[in-house]
Amino acid sequence: MNPALSQIGAQMSHLTGVRAIMKDIIETLRAGEGQQFINLSAGNPLILPQVEQLWRDCTAQLLASSEYGEVVCRYGSSQGYAPFIKAIANDFNQRYGLNLTERNILITPGSQTLYFYAANAFGGYTSSGELKKIVLPLSPDYTGYGGVCLVPEALIAYKPTLDIDAEAHKFKYRPDFSQLSISEDTGCIIFSRPCNPTGNVLTDDEVKKIAELGASFNVPVLIDSAYAPPFPSLNFTPMTPIFGQNILHCMSLSKAGLPGERIGIAIGDKQLIHVLECFQTNACLHPSRYGQAIAAYAVNSGELAAISENVIRPFYQNKFTVLEDTLFEAMPKDLPWFLHRGEGAIFAWLWLEDLPITDWEFYQELKQVGVIVVPGSTFFPGLNQEWAHKHQCCRISLTGSDEEIATGMQRLAKVAQKVYQYSAVSA
Ligand SMILES: Cc1ncc(COP(=O)(O)O)c(C=O)c1O
Repeated sequence: MNPALSQIGAQMSHLTGVRAIMKDIIETLRAGEGQQFINLSAGNPLILPQVEQLWRDCTAQLLASSEYGEVVCRYGSSQGYAPFIKAIANDFNQRYGLNLTERNILITPGSQTLYFYAANAFGGYTSSGELKKIVLPLSPDYTGYGGVCLVPEALIAYKPTLDIDAEAHKFKYRPDFSQLSISEDTGCIIFSRPCNPTGNVLTDDEVKKIAELGASFNVPVLIDSAYAPPFPSLNFTPMTPIFGQNILHCMSLSKAGLPGERIGIAIGDKQLIHVLECFQTNACLHPSRYGQAIAAYAVNSGELAAISENVIRPFYQNKFTVLEDTLFEAMPKDLPWFLHRGEGAIFAWLWLEDLPITDWEFYQELKQVGVIVVPGSTFFPGLNQEWAHKHQCCRISLTGSDEEIATGMQRLAKVAQKVYQYSAVSA
């Protein structure tokens, strides 16, 4: 059957960004049976034994409690499971000296859903026909923002400035405040901190400046903290979560070991939370409660924050060091390659300046030597202008073993050398 689709139906039935590449990767892995690929494309976190044990223990606690029936056998409130909301409020009030009540918190089925609600509640056409933009102040950013808006023309991203340390082969993106435009036609602002795909952590000052720009036009700023402290604490550089009147602090438990349970958390002004909660009631009534119930134990005991800091963060930080050390050893010093500063998340981001082929072709070349990464051009949702840089980067996942990461980077270095050399000879 081939039903006629609405405009929204057609749009939502297409895979965008990295999801489209994932299809190619899955097909490559399937077709290459017998060939050993080093797959450094995954965004799926690894199962760390201590983290899995924490969730097993919390599940045992839930099963043994009288709460169990209430959690799984009954509908609940749209806002989320009350004991979990209370646990988050207590934890954040204590940790950051806030005055949160339960009205400041909303739980959603994963944080992707949260961005979907926000993008469509604050972005798109108003009843008077005015287009409210969803602004990504620094591109590249999370590819998932590309698929959340039902009005695609509302999404707009800004090119960053590049802070380059040529000698060290390192760089860092910074928001370009001389270009960034926030005005009456801005509906909301979204960015990830730490950032997927680059590992960038915007500084406190940069975040405050963006928040102030938003505040002057009454614009909500969603800070996607899927990798931030206190859980999963995947920041490798010190950072402070920033709160404020127009800030929605958005979290996820996916990188803290519960991606399957789909838990997103929004913290912010109660009127903003109310708008998103109503959206949620219409969309799905409420998020599943089992994951929230076990998470309440882990937050209340302090175990989730402790395991994030002592297990999850060092695990991925070490992977980044392996990757960085190998690249420094293996990459020719005279090539213009630059690794983004590894400030957090579970990825490394490599920029090959003046790469003679596109990122997609480079990805194909790497597949030939059994290495899979993600071509960088999928991470610029909303950036409509042409920019050569978009086709000169790739995202490398830190979810491989140390050996896979080292071997993968050695092979990548050889491919890079070949590609640049070939172009020098044929020029
Ligand atoms: C930056 C960022 N935001 C949001 C998400 C969505 O996470 P979830 O819906 O699992 O909470 C991801 C997933 O990888 C991410 O990397």
